[in-house]
Amino acid sequence: MCGIVGYIGLNSASTILLNGLEKLEYRGYDSAGVTILNNNKLTTRKFSGRLERLADSINQQPIAGTIGIGHTRWATHGEPSDVNSHPQLNNDQTIAIVHNGIIENYLSLKNFLTEQGYTFYSETDTEIIANLIGFHYENDLFAAVRKAIKQLKGTYALEIVSSKHPDEIIAVRYESPLVLGIGEDAFYLASDIPAILNQTKKVIYLENGDLVRLTKEDYEIYDQADNKVEREIKEVTWDVEAASKEGFDHFMLKEIYQQPEAIQHTIERRLDDEGYIQLDDIQLSKLELNAIRKVYIVACGTAYHAGLVGKHILEKALQVDVNAEIGSEFRYNDQFIDDKTLVIIVSQSGETADTLASLREAKSKGARILSITNVVGSSVARESDDIFYTWAGPEIAVASTKAYTTQLVAFYMLGLYFGRLKGTLSDQLYKQHLNELQSITKQVERTINNCIEPAKVIAEKIKDSHSLFYLGRGLDYTSALEASLKLKELSYIHAEAFAAGELKHGTIALIEEGTPVIAIATQTKTYDKTISNIKSVKARGAYVIGITTTDNEDIEQVCDKTIYIAKKSDLFMPILSVIAPQLIAYYTSLAKGNDVDKPRNLAKSVTVE
Ligand code: F6R
Repeated sequence: MCGIVGYIGLNSASTILLNGLEKLEYRGYDSAGVTILNNNKLTTRKFSGRLERLADSINQQPIAGTIGIGHTRWATHGEPSDVNSHPQLNNDQTIAIVHNGIIENYLSLKNFLTEQGYTFYSETDTEIIANLIGFHYENDLFAAVRKAIKQLKGTYALEIVSSKHPDEIIAVRYESPLVLGIGEDAFYLASDIPAILNQTKKVIYLENGDLVRLTKEDYEIYDQADNKVEREIKEVTWDVEAASKEGFDHFMLKEIYQQPEAIQHTIERRLDDEGYIQLDDIQLSKLELNAIRKVYIVACGTAYHAGLVGKHILEKALQVDVNAEIGSEFRYNDQFIDDKTLVIIVSQSGETADTLASLREAKSKGARILSITNVVGSSVARESDDIFYTWAGPEIAVASTKAYTTQLVAFYMLGLYFGRLKGTLSDQLYKQHLNELQSITKQVERTINNCIEPAKVIAEKIKDSHSLFYLGRGLDYTSALEASLKLKELSYIHAEAFAAGELKHGTIALIEEGTPVIAIATQTKTYDKTISNIKSVKARGAYVIGITTTDNEDIEQVCDKTIYIAKKSDLFMPILSVIAPQLIAYYTSLAKGNDVDKPRNLAKSVTVE
């Protein structure tokens, strides 16, 4: 996810672009840049790091001009660096472009352009588009862009300027958001409304395939079939703060809703034409994989819970011992680690101190390091041998939601990839599992929608409780651990997860009349046993809420309330079973008047031990 802005008018473009980029930083903040077009001259400034670097440079040395394009980046391909920052330019530096999205056929286009004599200086797919437009250019920028985009596969919102066209911005929208703002004497472009809301409230939501030509006086929009079209101008009624949350009350709720899209993003770009998983950032060969005797998964908090699910998946795929360990413990334990050990580091931020220290400890002992992280170019990514980026986009709320579910997806994909590489998985099973994974996005969407109302009711019921228990067995227990962490960090209610079968060995003494117990019962193998455990807490007065799949209606006989979720095979249920608990935690926090996005005593990235 990245943010783009554009301006054409009578005022200082760099000031307006900086203002817009500031509002888009939530879409990415690992690099930023602008190109200003002034009298047939393009001036580009771009830096890795936060927007302040760009702002400082422009403040110290202003760029004259009233036409420009800007970008704030969340790297998906190529580490955050000055050269990978946008805008990207074509070889003869006459065309500058900013891009939000991903070009899937970038490699074949790059090969084609290389054969034509083009050189590439960055690792971005955007530089390929700039040169492709240059390749088609014959004195008409609009026509060149039109030709180039017909060759692109993937998702893109683009803004293009050229030194040969001193009064023009061309923009395109395809599967990545882009709005056109209509001002008094100016036009604006942006990935998202907040970037232009200080300037105008009149906007056109561009449609898929729309191609736009802006001059200082006018705008023209052409649809995918190249017909000139009129699009309705709408009046924005939100304020800036609400708009950056895209209408959601909190980032956490927005990020819960982003999960289907984030999961799809994590999967789709990694599938080749035959539908097999290709992992570009993983170099581990078949030979090296076969030599691995032991695997540790190391992480903290929510990422550790993803690791617990990862253990189940990878043990099946690799058929070696897999242990999931907490970062702060792992680094001080005397683990037996050598060059036949694979250590998988899981970290959304890639900067968590205990996780990073574990990585370094394992590396110093000769282990191979594979990381699952969301932040391209983070410390964890930089120090790893192999990387799986989750591509979930920036996660702003402190409580992790979409990072967790995409970490689970990363483990499923690694399991399939390694299983195929090692030959432990038949082609038929591989395809079957991959289909199941791909179809989960729709089920996640349905599950979110179905769980909203029950979660609100449960939040009202539990908000004044002192203590609550989550129960589950096997993979349901790992979901219970994540569910209880979410509830305690957001609602400040004491919440514990228990392996349901372990209750009778002590914990059941805590159950009193009215104690809320949420039982997760999605695993077919242990479903009946969990029902027996539910009965035993019910008999001691617990108020029991069941979370189960749609085929288990008999659970209603033992529960006071039931939430039904979509059904998948047992191995894939953790993605679906965590959604209701995420929403229960969200609505309970809301009902208690807590700060949902910034719970007390917590920080998004824990860079101290
Ligand atoms: C809880 C949460 C934390 C993080 C943990 C690790 O909702 O977000 O438990 O999972 O601090 O952070 P990362 O994944 O950045 O290493």
